[in-house]
Amino acid sequence: MPLRSFGRIKGRPLRAGQADLVAQFLPQLTVPVSGPGKLDLAALFPSCVDFALEIGFGGGEHLVGQILAKPERGFLGAEPFHNGIAKCLAGLNGAGLLAEPGRSRVRIHPGDARLLLPILPDGLLSVVYLLFPDPWPKARHRKRRILQPDFAHEIRRVLAPGGEFRMATDWQDYADEALAILQRVPGLVGLAGASGDKREPPADHVATRYEAKGLGDTSPVWLRFVRNLDEFHPGL
Ligand SMILES: C[S@@+](CC[C@H](N)C(=O)[O-])C[C@H]1O[C@@H](n2cnc3c(N)ncnc32)[C@H](O)[C@@H]1O
Repeated sequence: MPLRSFGRIKGRPLRAGQADLVAQFLPQLTVPVSGPGKLDLAALFPSCVDFALEIGFGGGEHLVGQILAKPERGFLGAEPFHNGIAKCLAGLNGAGLLAEPGRSRVRIHPGDARLLLPILPDGLLSVVYLLFPDPWPKARHRKRRILQPDFAHEIRRVLAPGGEFRMATDWQDYADEALAILQRVPGLVGLAGASGDKREPPADHVATRYEAKGLGDTSPVWLRFVRNLDEFHPGL
């Protein structure tokens, strides 16, 4: 198992309403990670035409915003922080997205995304988001950063042809390190690099309170890579 990339998994005790939401909805929304074979996304999201994954969704503001903006997309979200999951459920509930939890367009993996990735099928996700991952700025902690070469290869594997990996960080050295790793993954092609502007958020971005705090040492850097279509049509 890789080094732990997240901080605490429990904060203050949940308010009664949040605890009720967790008890009522989390079991139904939890991704079944223990079954045999890969996850059947079409069966999990029968009404959806494509799928996305958010890694480390925090309080779920971006996840909820994207679900509302993309009515035909099924979303997987991975987050080990219990209070974040509770906030996300409150957001989903407030947006009316839990009315029929069995048919919901969201499933949650309440744990390390690196345990979910191996059971995802090859080449099916339209987007994978990794927004403001824990920065681990101290030199001795950097190996805890989630964006490592193996992780980047796994992201490429799960992306659909033309699917996008979208990362943002406001720590310059993490952006530099991530860019160097991503550029070395065969089959991933930089989008932001081509436009030359890595400081502008994508037009459909949904900002979060965490992001607004600006805790890093630079303004947000956006790293956007797509899985090359040529990989799927090697003869062309
Ligand atoms: C700094 S917060 C940012 C939250 C959110 N993406 C945002 O922009 O508001 C990073 C989040 O990533 C989560 N995280 C860290 N390592 C993770 C992992 N291996 N799998 C899933 N989530 C992870 C943390 O628990 C934390 O909530």
